[in-house]
Amino acid sequence: MSEPSEAPAQTVPPPHARIRNTRHSYLATKLAYNIGRLHGLSLRIYLYRRIGVKIGERCVIRRGVYIGSPNELEVGDGSFVGRASLYCTGGVKIGRNVNVSDGAVIITAKHDINSPKFEATYEPITVGDWAWITTNAIILAGVNVGEGAVVAAGAVVTKDVSPYSVVGGNPARAIGERKKQPFEYVPGSYRPPFL
Ligand SMILES: CC(C)(COP(=O)(O)OP(=O)(O)OC[C@H]1O[C@@H](n2cnc3c(N)ncnc32)[C@H](O)[C@@H]1OP(=O)(O)O)[C@@H](O)C(=O)NCCC(=O)NCCS
Repeated sequence: MSEPSEAPAQTVPPPHARIRNTRHSYLATKLAYNIGRLHGLSLRIYLYRRIGVKIGERCVIRRGVYIGSPNELEVGDGSFVGRASLYCTGGVKIGRNVNVSDGAVIITAKHDINSPKFEATYEPITVGDWAWITTNAIILAGVNVGEGAVVAAGAVVTKDVSPYSVVGGNPARAIGERKKQPFEYVPGSYRPPFL
């Protein structure tokens, strides 16, 4: 009698290797590129929502932003996104009342540099409520930026950032603390002319 056959082993994907680029995300990226060049904040937000970006209330997404795989981007209420570059294939979740300044780069993609095929992998990035990603900071794949944290100008963030800490440099290290308090500002209510 033959042995009972074993059920085929279930392939469990590694925890971070999640989403790949799809035809849908390529198309959405092209559309987002063009939407990002239109004048009129309300129009851009309406169109971004139509192509799958989850955008809360009272948000600014500034003209000239780059959003790759916009269908994997979530922006919470009251947040402001300047002329940044967001590569969202692995999933980018920006919390509430977050400020992402001009020139910031949030990139969920990387390549396996030791593989002969140089495969692309994607890891999600989260940015907690009240965080500030300042000018030209770079947030790399898989990083979680804690609530209220500040990533100083030009920092390259390779590891998670603790809540209410200030990090800077390359690779980013703690350079200070931010006072935890009831904040009274809403980044997304900032309305310079010609948004
Ligand atoms: C994070 C930031 C706000 C801190 O400002 P601050 O509280 O005035 O800090 P300080 O200038 O007093 O610097 C404190 C320490 O951090 C260091 N530091 C400040 N900015 C740094 C940076 N970007 N990278 C590395 N170290 C930095 C300083 O050298 C100083 O170190 P020291 O104590 O050894 O001398 C500021 O550095 C920054 O990044 N601003 C971003 C501006 C921006 O993006 N504006 C957009 C407008 S929407």
